[in-house]
Amino acid sequence: MKKLVIAIDGPAGAGKSTVAQIVARKMGYVYIDTGAMYRAVTWLALRQNLTVKDAAAVGDLAAGAVIELTYAAGKLVVLVNGEDVTGPIRTPEVTGLVAEISQILPVREAMLVLQRNMAAKGGVVMDGRDIASRVLPNADVKVFLTASIEERARRRWKELLDKGYTVDLEELKREIADRDRKDYEREYAPLIQTEDAVLVDTTAMSIEAAVDEILKICEEKSGGI
Ligand code: CDP
Ligand code: CDP
Repeated sequence: MKKLVIAIDGPAGAGKSTVAQIVARKMGYVYIDTGAMYRAVTWLALRQNLTVKDAAAVGDLAAGAVIELTYAAGKLVVLVNGEDVTGPIRTPEVTGLVAEISQILPVREAMLVLQRNMAAKGGVVMDGRDIASRVLPNADVKVFLTASIEERARRRWKELLDKGYTVDLEELKREIADRDRKDYEREYAPLIQTEDAVLVDTTAMSIEAAVDEILKICEEKSGGI
């Protein structure tokens, strides 16, 4: 059976990484979290006290960074220049800056090369914002995964609560909406639903149902998996 290339795009909290990881596991494919790569570059920039104003320096940093997505006990481990940054790339500081760092063209160009290399052999599920439109325009399956802003904020709120943090839901909603706006409106490779992508709205859908929906789309595409 031909190994498919599956692209999943959508806004924050739509369920992309959760669903993409399960789909990849069920199909025996590799999961590539491109958001983690942009977060890794942002983490590097923060560590060197660089901001979006230092676009050229951040671009050089991205081009020179060795970013590896590996797995330990079934969990994604992100290495930057050999350093484990799995935890640090999810801090509020990184989350607050990542959408701005992602607007820098040389950063995007560096990530594009890495991401296309990672997908070159097929048998991959890649999630992000510009996967169907820019990184893998010839992907066999393109899914635009979304959910209402209320539901996406509620999910993130619950996720934080489970980790022991109580945050203000309305504030969280504003932060997510602000990041979405930056991702939708940026000049280079904005978040977009391509014409050939299948829309999957998970607002009232369980994780299992979203996974089944995507597996069904893959099955239709490959004539049985
Ligand atoms: O928080 P969430 O898991 O939804 O986001 P993420 O997938 O970790 O991505 C973090 C940020 O990286 C996004 O808000 C975008 O600004 C950027 N990103 C991007 O520009 N292009 C991608 N292909 C993936 C992420
Ligand atoms: O990667 P993205 O930002 O699109 O979302 P995620 O990190 O995979 O999912 C955000 C949260 O929503 C996680 O805690 C998931 O378990 C949860 N989720 C859900 O409750 N129902 C879904 N249908 C999908 C995700």
